[in-house]
Amino acid sequence: MVKARRELLDSGAYQPVAQQLQQYLAALPSITQRPLRVADAGCGEGYYLSQVASQLSDEVDLDFIGFDISKWAVQAATKRSKAIRWLVASSKNIPIESNYLDVMLCMFGFPVFSEFARTLSVGGKLLLVDAGPQHLVELRSILYDDLKPYKDWCAEPALDAGFELSEHKPLAPFKARLTQQQIQTLALMTPHFFRAPAANRSKLASLQQLEVTLDVQFRLLTLLDKQ
Ligand SMILES: C[S@@+](CC[C@H](N)C(=O)[O-])C[C@H]1O[C@@H](n2cnc3c(N)ncnc32)[C@H](O)[C@@H]1O
Repeated sequence: MVKARRELLDSGAYQPVAQQLQQYLAALPSITQRPLRVADAGCGEGYYLSQVASQLSDEVDLDFIGFDISKWAVQAATKRSKAIRWLVASSKNIPIESNYLDVMLCMFGFPVFSEFARTLSVGGKLLLVDAGPQHLVELRSILYDDLKPYKDWCAEPALDAGFELSEHKPLAPFKARLTQQQIQTLALMTPHFFRAPAANRSKLASLQQLEVTLDVQFRLLTLLDKQ
């Protein structure tokens, strides 16, 4: 699973997401006294963090930490970059001291706002990256007989933990043309595959290629105070 995921990400299908992430980090006010401290919660096999680390390391002094609950994902991440500290850890109990971080990333993951607020310093940034309404609509139309309405983001848990929403920027939707193998990998990367009826999964398996829409939302939050 981790290997298949790595191959799909390495194909460049999600490159615009990595580019947008890099732009966000590059635009943050520079901290000259010490390296920029960034953690990626649920970093998976480390694609995004290692991409931005290699692009930013010439301009900014970096202290990057990626962690994920899956030890297989983290093992794969260690092969991407030796300059990043990789940890097997849960977002529910992050092994990082309080107030340490400047930025927390949560990409297609499961935010735990209380722990993100604890580990960030006041004024620190949380970047949430999630699927938008049109994300993988072609894939979902095959897997489901009826498409469920888009579940919008709920700000309340973040506000309760002391964050404010500073910016909400949907990335312009873009397309990726997938091979048969990539269709299966992408389907497995989503929660949709396991929820879909078997007949629809077979339909998907019979496709030779598929063009999918990638619709991704970036939300930048600022930690105003500690609750
Ligand atoms: C959809 S994947 C996203 C991976 C990566 N951020 C990316 O976009 O490529 C979600 C990741 O969250 C991890 N995860 C699930 N629960 C977690 C938890 N409580 N703490 C840390 N990571 C978790 C999974 O192991 C998986 O790697």
